[in-house]
Amino acid sequence: MAAMPTTPLHFRRVGFDPAPDLTEVRDTDGVRRIESPQLGASIWLVTRVEDVRRVYGDPSRFRISAYHLVPGAPALTDEELAPVRPGNLLAFDPPEHTRLRRLLAPEFTARRMRRLEPRIHEIVDAHLDAVERKGPPADLVAEFALPVPALVICELLGVPFEDRDEFQQRYAEFFDVTLSFERRLAVQYESKAYLTELVARARAEPGDDLLGMLARDESADLDDRELVGIADLLLLAGHETTANMLGLGVLALLRHPEQFRLLREEPGRADAAVEELLRWLTVVHTGVPRVATTEVELGGQAIGAGELIICSLPAANRDPALVPDPDRFDIGRDAGSHVAFGHGVHHCLGAPLARMEMRIAFPALVRRFPALRTVGSYPDYRTQQVVYGLGSLPVTW
Ligand code: HEM
Repeated sequence: MAAMPTTPLHFRRVGFDPAPDLTEVRDTDGVRRIESPQLGASIWLVTRVEDVRRVYGDPSRFRISAYHLVPGAPALTDEELAPVRPGNLLAFDPPEHTRLRRLLAPEFTARRMRRLEPRIHEIVDAHLDAVERKGPPADLVAEFALPVPALVICELLGVPFEDRDEFQQRYAEFFDVTLSFERRLAVQYESKAYLTELVARARAEPGDDLLGMLARDESADLDDRELVGIADLLLLAGHETTANMLGLGVLALLRHPEQFRLLREEPGRADAAVEELLRWLTVVHTGVPRVATTEVELGGQAIGAGELIICSLPAANRDPALVPDPDRFDIGRDAGSHVAFGHGVHHCLGAPLARMEMRIAFPALVRRFPALRTVGSYPDYRTQQVVYGLGSLPVTW
């Protein structure tokens, strides 16, 4: 099915693949200036893996555009930006970014994540038990892909899981590029108001969770608005991304039965399978827009100071310079140098957590339901969302 014409070029897909008009940019110019009615500006679209690494790897020449914190929308005014910027790591460059990242990094190391491993197994198994008990058919997005990472991040942060319908609805609207910019900004403000109450509670009675720990131990370094911003970013990034990887990843495995079987029979392949799923699916279309600080040459193009740059992560992860035969999905390959988590100082803070969740969830699911198959003919792709994935995944077994 052809991509809808209103979808921004850097969001366009056909099923699992970046759309042909996006890969055409990569295979010809690499870097191209395009008009973006959504952003209200012309932007430079960067599609090759080497150029993406150059942009994300050089924050002195390619700074974050904090004014574009509402993804796929026009620039915020200073007044609009002020309440949504504090604490958001993706709204700052070094050295401000470094300060925030240093406070959080120790909580997200691979070693720290291993402590969560038994609990993640429990959460995954409990959800699989519930799906099995209820019997087929099931919607694996609603019953597995979404609640598992949501519960993990709620427990980690100290956000009540009972509130999930409310905050998931807000984040779904925030990420829906068909909604008005004003609506998407309004849900950001609502989210801050909700988290302001939680932060006040964490200050008064700090628990053992991350919010409690930051409220107790880092009060000299973090004010309330920053703590709210951190919580908001982690809650949003902590489940939307992993949830979509889980949903779309299951569909990718079902559409490649030999890979499904391989993962089921040889669970030791889970680490490599997760990297290949991250690369091949690349659910985050683009990182935050960057702005060139000076005139700079990139992929043979002269980019002027102040011009906006958007990197297409799916195009870069299917770049033949990254892996041979990049459009083939192959859990047996080494795909570990992908840019699905970004690159450089803003490389995904939650990558060790996301990896751990997926390394547990995919093998557990294929083991539990060896005869899993989809119901219905056309998958419910999220074509108008900042994070790609599935709206639902009806299955039987
Ligand atoms: C940054 C992708 C899961 C928290 C990023 C970036 C990408 C990304 C591409 C860089 C954006 C840029 O440079 O503009 C993903 C994917 C995930 C995932 C594909 C799941 C498969 C998570 C989880 C968390 C998280 C589970 C939190 C628990 C963050 C944070 C940043 C970030 C805080 C900003 C880091 C910084 O600016 O220093 N993520 N993410 N992410 N991610 Fe993730």
